[in-house]
Amino acid sequence: DASDIEKGTYAHYMLKEMDEQPAVIRNIIQHYQNENGDIELTEGVRSLVSEADRIYIVACGTSYNAGLVGKDILERIAGIPTEVHVSSEFGYNMPLLSSRPLFVFLSQSGETADSRAVLVEVKKRGYKALTMTNVPGSTLSREANETMLLHAGPEIAVASTKAYTAQIAVLAILAYDIARANGKELPFELMPELARVATIMDSIMSQKELFEDLSDRYLKTTPNTFFIGRGLDASVCLEGALKVKEISYIQAEGYPGGELKHGSIALIEDGTPVIALISQPKTNLNIRGNVKEVVARGANACIISMQGVEHENDEFILPHVEPILAPLITVLPVQLMAYYAALARGCDVDKPRNLAKSVTVE
Ligand code: G6P
Repeated sequence: DASDIEKGTYAHYMLKEMDEQPAVIRNIIQHYQNENGDIELTEGVRSLVSEADRIYIVACGTSYNAGLVGKDILERIAGIPTEVHVSSEFGYNMPLLSSRPLFVFLSQSGETADSRAVLVEVKKRGYKALTMTNVPGSTLSREANETMLLHAGPEIAVASTKAYTAQIAVLAILAYDIARANGKELPFELMPELARVATIMDSIMSQKELFEDLSDRYLKTTPNTFFIGRGLDASVCLEGALKVKEISYIQAEGYPGGELKHGSIALIEDGTPVIALISQPKTNLNIRGNVKEVVARGANACIISMQGVEHENDEFILPHVEPILAPLITVLPVQLMAYYAALARGCDVDKPRNLAKSVTVE
């Protein structure tokens, strides 16, 4: 059938879609830059964001996790206060809004009912909305004032991978555009750095067996696992835990390293796998302290770090990118580890139990 053709030689859509990530980043660069290599957004998008004093990102699932990374990028690069909300909560427990809020709906499919319910409500109140979606003409795209497309190509696997990295890249582009419009100093040039990110993604995806090994060592037989990190790494830990839960059915928690000792460390037993993501120089020593705490209680720790943070020999070290873009790189190992864990455990990778690609009921 048609789906077999699209999958090509790949065993699973998820594997194909993870592999497509470098190409998706390059595609995004192409779509959002002009012939001078400068970021170019539509006038409509620019005027929407120029009117806003605060951004409210509204999303579900993996898109929500991408939003958490986007919040940090928007605040640090563009200097615009940003909140991230789960759609199904926002609709019923709307926070106090600023005087000129802009709503950004993040949705791979553009069809998620919980997100649409919020969009309907905020429009009723007269607010403006920008949708970031992978699907042109989708409901959330049609009903919002403006759309920024993810240009990731169809995502079929229920576990979202390339949409996550695409959303982060597009949010970074938006942040840079706002920063430039406001005359803010830019810490580095975004588009060349995104191009480097794509190259590094290629190199990671060409060494999948390394992450299959890590998965075998840490996830293959365990009933539970923790992902720990701080700052942006903590956000990626939430996505790592979500991937592992979704497709391998291992009970997984993503946790800010410093918070473990306030409860969850009680769950650490002899051999409990703890995967630590360490890409942020600012909190390098703190998170390493947290790793020592869990190891002292018997945890089987796996450290995935990045050049640019001081590291040790017995850890997996990823090539360096600007720390604020590190989630685009650190998420790849955890996506791959989740994939290989699901395979090893005989799970249906592309169609996990109880889940749907797009949830069109509230
Ligand atoms: C479902 C999917 C997830 C996805 C979430 C939000 O739960 O299984 O992979 O992240 O919906 O979907 P959206 O299309 O709005 O990004």
